[in-house]
Amino acid sequence: MPHELINIQDTGMGVAPELVPLKIHHPSSTVRSFLAILTESIYAGIEREPQNWFHPSEWSRVNALKVEKRRKEFVLGRCACKLATSAYLEEPHLEHLVINAGIFGQPILRFLSNHHPELSITHTDTVALAVASEQGCPIGLDIEKLTDRNTDFLAEHITQRDLRLLAGLTPNVNHAYFRAWTIKEALSKVLRCGITIPFALLELEPPTLIDANSFYCEYRNFPQYRCYSWSLGQYLIAIVAPRNVSLEVDADILFSRLVP
Ligand SMILES: CC(C)(COP(=O)(O)OP(=O)(O)OC[C@H]1O[C@@H](n2cnc3c(N)ncnc32)[C@H](O)[C@@H]1OP(=O)(O)O)[C@@H](O)C(=O)NCCC(=O)NCCS
Repeated sequence: MPHELINIQDTGMGVAPELVPLKIHHPSSTVRSFLAILTESIYAGIEREPQNWFHPSEWSRVNALKVEKRRKEFVLGRCACKLATSAYLEEPHLEHLVINAGIFGQPILRFLSNHHPELSITHTDTVALAVASEQGCPIGLDIEKLTDRNTDFLAEHITQRDLRLLAGLTPNVNHAYFRAWTIKEALSKVLRCGITIPFALLELEPPTLIDANSFYCEYRNFPQYRCYSWSLGQYLIAIVAPRNVSLEVDADILFSRLVP
């Protein structure tokens, strides 16, 4: 089941939320993990029938969000996370899978089960990704949409060394900045620190090319983690996993979900 493209369930809203095939292997075992993606096309349906997706306590939190962009990102992120978790736990009732925020803002599951997965969420204004992975194998996700917006605000976080390492693998400096940013943000989620630490600490090691759109790299100060980075159309996606597992994502399916 995890390695096929599957429909988790039909929510009755005419949209079949889907997973992107994700395989994580440790030398001695396969790590149970699910990656879900949702785009804004499903948003109106969720808002119409929130009871199919949210526990009342979660929906009150949604209703407290006054900025429309934040509300939409939060809803899509939570729903992607519920879909990944639903597949992980084989629990069809999304509204029973309450995704709270931990003390650092990280997603935490509240559910009657002692097999809780680790969770990670990322969103832009139109797309959200979430992963549910076996406890003890933390995964960090990040997505950014490439724009020609000014990258000055990234200059203090991305070092000249980072830029040099990415120079041959990225079409321009703007791309290199955003790519390095996603690679660092994904690690900051695994570490739970977010942008509260100088991202210069999260310097990259030389990347290894996988194919024209992807590479993986490690981190100078956090050698226990490895990041897989994809450039898919306008989107940059980074997934961080412990270095001693191998991770494969079906990038063609991921891309087709990003740009339906
Ligand atoms: C983690 C962080 C870098 C993500 O930045 P962003 O630009 O909002 O990026 P994304 O859309 O990719 O990710 C957002 C999701 O990351 C998750 N997240 C937030 N803080 C997190 C943390 N410390 N660790 C792991 N995941 C975290 C949340 O699920 C969030 O989505 P939600 O709020 O809708 O649930 C940023 O939110 C951050 O720095 N948070 C930390 C703040 C902090 O530590 N405060 C101190 C509290 S004591």
